[in-house]
Amino acid sequence: MAVDERQLTAVQVMRDAPVIPVIVLHAVAHAVPMARALLAGGIRMLEVTLRTPQALACIEAIAREIPDAVVGAGTVRSAADARSAAAAGARFAVSPGYTPAVGQACRDLALPLLPGVATGSEIMACQEDGFEALKFFPALQAGGAAMLKAWAGPFGEIRFCPTGGITPSNAVEFLAMSNVACVGGSWLVPVDALARGDWARITQLAREAASLQRATVA
Ligand code: 3PG
Repeated sequence: MAVDERQLTAVQVMRDAPVIPVIVLHAVAHAVPMARALLAGGIRMLEVTLRTPQALACIEAIAREIPDAVVGAGTVRSAADARSAAAAGARFAVSPGYTPAVGQACRDLALPLLPGVATGSEIMACQEDGFEALKFFPALQAGGAAMLKAWAGPFGEIRFCPTGGITPSNAVEFLAMSNVACVGGSWLVPVDALARGDWARITQLAREAASLQRATVA
């Protein structure tokens, strides 16, 4: 199924696959083969974090070279980050927390945003600004599956992407929850696999992640 660029929403970003890879790249040369490897394993929503000086160039390279991937920017912490990410070709944004300024910038840019939340007040602030597809971060440290279960009552309409401490084994528990659309994690792109150019390993990890079962999405 093709993702129509004009209609891409945060919900679509979360529904595309059971896992959104959280990617940290230190070398632009790694970006395209890494993205190809993930795509070959069935994962095309790629969150490249703005944590390295090379991140924007990596986003640009993936956006230019791999039209079948949907590259987004992670660690978006300001309106300026959102603007740089969009200019580099990012098609969605993920933030570790939420501010109305980041929300407004993403709206102005028509950049779907998955804002990070860890408390009920933060969920309410996001909802007030129209965001209902949220990243639960840091998921394990902030209460894990028990927290999501508690939120399912008062915030039943919210769909979460728990991220932070998720592994292939505990992902199963999260993905079985009715308010979880997908999970995020860095395990799909291990530092040593990148360093060795072990693209086959990344494809294998992506394939395993793509085949994880979810409760909320067929
Ligand atoms: C993130 O940056 O969103 C998280 O730190 C990823 O967490 P993980 O490395 O525990 O998957």
